[in-house]
Amino acid sequence: MTTPAGRRVTMVAALAENRVIGAGGKIPWHLPADFTHFKNTTMGHVLILGRTTHEGIGRPLPGRQTIVLTRDPDWSAEGVRVAADVPSALVLADELLEGAPVDKHVMIGGGGHVYKDAMPYADEQILSEVPMSPEGDAHYPEFSAKRWTEVRREPREGFTVVWWERVFACGGD
Ligand SMILES: NC(=O)c1ccc[n+]([C@@H]2O[C@H](COP(=O)([O-])OP(=O)(O)OC[C@H]3O[C@@H](n4cnc5c(N)ncnc54)[C@H](OP(=O)(O)O)[C@@H]3O)[C@@H](O)[C@H]2O)c1
Repeated sequence: MTTPAGRRVTMVAALAENRVIGAGGKIPWHLPADFTHFKNTTMGHVLILGRTTHEGIGRPLPGRQTIVLTRDPDWSAEGVRVAADVPSALVLADELLEGAPVDKHVMIGGGGHVYKDAMPYADEQILSEVPMSPEGDAHYPEFSAKRWTEVRREPREGFTVVWWERVFACGGD
C-alpha cells in the first residue's frame, strides 16, 4: 500500500507454526541467525515498533531511525520518535526518509499489536518460519492467501525465511 510518499512498507517477523511470536515479553526461542537476518533486513531503514517491544529491547537499535507507537501522549524515550497511530507513523517515516534513496523502506518490527494494525498498509512481509509451537501471548496476524503471494523461500540455520508480496493493492489483511 506504501506510505503517502510511496515508500514500501515491509513487515519483518519471526513466527512459530502456531503463529506465536512472543511469550512474557520475550521471544520464545534463541536463533542468533534470525537476529542477524533481522538486523541485515532492517539496517538503514525506518523501523516502527510497538511501545512494549521497544521497552523490551531497552534501547534504540543502531543504524535504524525508530518510531515507537504508543497511545500515551506523555511517553517518550531517548533516541526514538513517537507516533500515536499507524498512519501518523507512516507520515513521520516519510519525513525521516525525505531525500533518502528510493530503496529506503519502512520496516514494521512488531510486536503482535503493531503487526495486526500495520498489516493493511503493508506491501511485503518477510517472515522467518520457526519450526516450533511454543506457548505464547503474542501472535502474528492471519492474512488472506487471496491478497498475498509467496515469492521466495530460503532455508536458514533453524528457520526458513519466506517473502510475501501483496497481490491486490486494496488494503485489508
Ligand atoms: N518474533 C518476532 O518477530 C517479534 C518481533 C517483535 C516483538 N516480538 C514479541 O512480541 C511481544 C510484544 O508484542 P505485543 O503485541 O505485546 O506489544 P507491541 O505490539 O510491541 O506493543 C503494544 C503497545 O504498542 C502501542 N501500540 C500498538 N499498536 C498501536 C497503534 N495502532 N497505535 C498506537 N499505539 C499502538 C500501545 O502502547 P501503549 O500501551 O503505550 O499505548 C500498545 O500497548 C513480545 O513478547 C516481543 O518479544 C516478537
